Amino acid sequence: MTSAKPSILALEFRSLVPELSAALGDFFECLGTTGTAAFFHPHPLTRELAKDLCHYTGRDLYFAGTYESRIVAYGLLRGWDENYVVPSLGIAIAPEARGTGLARSFMLFLHSAARLRGCKQVRLTVFRKNVNAVALYQSLGYFLGVGPRNARDAVLVEHFAFTFGQKAGAAPP
Ligand SMILES: CC(C)(COP(=O)(O)OP(=O)(O)OC[C@H]1O[C@@H](n2cnc3c(N)ncnc32)[C@H](O)[C@@H]1OP(=O)(O)O)[C@@H](O)C(=O)NCCC(=O)NCCS
Repeated sequence: MTSAKPSILALEFRSLVPELSAALGDFFECLGTTGTAAFFHPHPLTRELAKDLCHYTGRDLYFAGTYESRIVAYGLLRGWDENYVVPSLGIAIAPEARGTGLARSFMLFLHSAARLRGCKQVRLTVFRKNVNAVALYQSLGYFLGVGPRNARDAVLVEHFAFTFGQKAGAAPP
């Protein structure tokens, strides 16, 4: 009899829970040390915030893609706490897991999570020079949509403001 590991692929998307605090801290730290934070900074990428997010109990949604004991993807849908109707989406994939289709499947998961909340649209902003992300969003059907939500976006002319989902006046999908 061998002591080989069971041949399961422990890959899943799940809500953040306190047990993921350390793994999310590792993930945020990795984003900082690999230059990803220049493109992805929805909030400080600190261990303290990772812990807070893993204990968060509000209306916004925070998810991780876990592979075995590591976090390989992080995604959020937020805005409900501030009473916005259309949530903002954010996503980041661990450098070693990019190019595997993980972002595409995670995006579909996040869209389903928003739809289950009754949302007809999600929005995001992305640096124009973040060509991989722009290609991903365009391939999923994102379109240049609603105007900047706040003054911070308004001055960031290097961003695209993308919307996904039902266009105004269109029939439900
Ligand atoms: C952008 C990002 C999420 C893509 O993740 P990924 O796991 O590599 O993406 P996938 O493998 O699922 O590929 C999905 C699509 O993304 C685009 N894409 C991914 N890598 C690409 C590359 N190197 N060149 C061009 N397009 C690319 C393509 O449209 C691709 O579809 P295709 O494989 O059918 O061509 C990832 O690079 C990342 O986490 N970047 C840092 C964080 C970030 O920029 N987040 C977005 C902030 S708005």
